[in-house]
Amino acid sequence: MSELVYERGVIVHIKGPVVEADGMRGARIREVVYVGEEKLIGEIVRIEGNRAVIQVYEPTGGVKSGEPVERTGEPLSAELGPGLLGLVLDGLGRPLEVVAEKAGGPFITRGIKAPTLPRDKKWHWTPKVKAGEEVIAGDVLGTVPEGSITHKIMLPPTIEKARILEIRSEGDYTIEEPIAVVEHIGGKEEVKMYHKWPVRNPRPFKEKLAPVELLVTGQRVIDTFFPIVKGGTSAVPGGFGTGKTVTLHQISKWADADVVVYVGCGERGNEMTDLLHTFPKLVDPKSGRPLLERSILIANTSNMPVPAREASIFMGITYAEYYRDMGLNVVLTADSTSRWAEALRELSSRLEEIPSERGYPAYLPDYIASFYERAGRIKVKGNRDELGSVAVIGAVSPSGGDLNEPVTQHTMRFVGAFWALDKDLAFKRHFPSINWLRSFSKYISGLRDWWIKNSGHDMMSYREKAMALLQRSSSLEEVARVVGEAALSDENRLVLLSSELIKEGFLVQNAYHEVDTYCSPKKQALLLKTLLEFYDRAKPMIDAGVPMSRISEMKSLGNLRRLKFVPEEKFEDAVKEAISQLEAEISSLIAEVR
Ligand SMILES: Nc1ncnc2c1ncn2[C@@H]1O[C@H](COP(=O)(O)OP(=O)(O)OP(=O)(O)O)[C@@H](O)[C@H]1O
Ligand SMILES: [Mg+2]
Repeated sequence: MSELVYERGVIVHIKGPVVEADGMRGARIREVVYVGEEKLIGEIVRIEGNRAVIQVYEPTGGVKSGEPVERTGEPLSAELGPGLLGLVLDGLGRPLEVVAEKAGGPFITRGIKAPTLPRDKKWHWTPKVKAGEEVIAGDVLGTVPEGSITHKIMLPPTIEKARILEIRSEGDYTIEEPIAVVEHIGGKEEVKMYHKWPVRNPRPFKEKLAPVELLVTGQRVIDTFFPIVKGGTSAVPGGFGTGKTVTLHQISKWADADVVVYVGCGERGNEMTDLLHTFPKLVDPKSGRPLLERSILIANTSNMPVPAREASIFMGITYAEYYRDMGLNVVLTADSTSRWAEALRELSSRLEEIPSERGYPAYLPDYIASFYERAGRIKVKGNRDELGSVAVIGAVSPSGGDLNEPVTQHTMRFVGAFWALDKDLAFKRHFPSINWLRSFSKYISGLRDWWIKNSGHDMMSYREKAMALLQRSSSLEEVARVVGEAALSDENRLVLLSSELIKEGFLVQNAYHEVDTYCSPKKQALLLKTLLEFYDRAKPMIDAGVPMSRISEMKSLGNLRRLKFVPEEKFEDAVKEAISQLEAEISSLIAEVR
């Protein structure tokens, strides 16, 4: 923190996580302060004359009036450098392990100062510039290997332009050892492998580009029906137990991203514990290495007060942007943004601000936007022709599953894809319970070419066909509810059967099934094409007068339903087999009635 010595303030008032201090002249909004004898971390949220209102990120029980408040002169910042991958951090960027060790247990963690990045670890540094060279912000000074990626040490955005005076030769160094000395308008400066960045400020880039590349998640209903792109945004709203967490886990596990940042703001402690136990054991299906090696995990432990959830979201997105700046594709998942919005509501009410809808402050939409707006596909800074992206996916957990509440509604306005989870589907164990009539993706039209190029199929036309079938069957179901299914024409009943096949054979995907857990775009395309053919092939049976009861009992229908469980390498053969069986069965049924 800063070398400057500031006057100390004095606590005059404590109300839960909100503390008021006097003697804070010159302090600024969003400045980090240390509160009380225990030096709890807090952030100034309001200033009135010499008084500052502070939101404290650690439990304030036992803190008394008269205790000091220390200023730091700095905003809440993230440490950015090698060593982030594989870390499990709390909402303030402190490694959970270190916090637990220093506190002698995982529960009494107040006032502990623990830097994010390991200070003793040595990194193998290879310089990429020479003394005398001119560099600009974003230029790569050198690299170090980190997990499965090449970590680029860039001239930080805070130094716009400089000349290299000294550069370290290749070797092993800790992040505290300067790797360069540069000269700029402000004078000479040592550059280390890490720097700090205020978490509420988006990191700069050259230009934002339209996102056009599918972020493959391997989840069929997402990739095919409601896709998200690299650099895109999506929300997963859903009531209790509808599958938000499983969806985010599946994406963290399977998405074709270089780096994954997972922010857990679960309100139930066990959900977080679950994550901490399961995540480190997961193996990257592509590289066979621990998934944690490409991930950063932020876990708001249940003993952290509500405001820390808010900080953790911004910490997470800052880490994501940092790896993006290296020219990588990053995915950030947040579970759940509702917990974070509730933190905002609680704070606002303690500050006695005028509440807006359902007690949330009027600036709620701006806050939600400021989070999702940090997603994007960008040209990185520096003399580099590279692109990077951050995709942001946030779960929303509206109380009672009511998607009309403000957090869901505002989120909907800012995201490119919206996966509305449905409690009726979840109850029927139709997972992922993404409702195909209430969800949307604004990226579809831009992905037609991607699918043709990457799967060899005009997948978006299959999608249209399948959607039409699903929509038609949904209206037919309405009718059937009134008049009974038997009253529908055979043709309409075939529509219902065909759409059932799409649901069972394509939309339903079991996260826990060895094969089904991931489905490549190629397999998705061939599978959907095959299932869609059922309707066209079965139609002549109706015309020939084969009774519906016989059609719905066809054996080959079962084969089609189970195609999704066939592993990738045997899939094409299995499709051929299933179709020839279907043809044979159809011919014999038609022959029977003739
Ligand atoms: N894709 C899936 N495949 C198989 N089972 C699933 C899938 N998605 C969800 N489930 C089932 O639903 C259960 C609840 O899912 P999950 O914990 O993700 O819900 P949630 O919406 O996060 O709930 P909460 O509101 O409690 O946080 C899981 O334990 C699992 O049994
Ligand atoms: Mg959950």
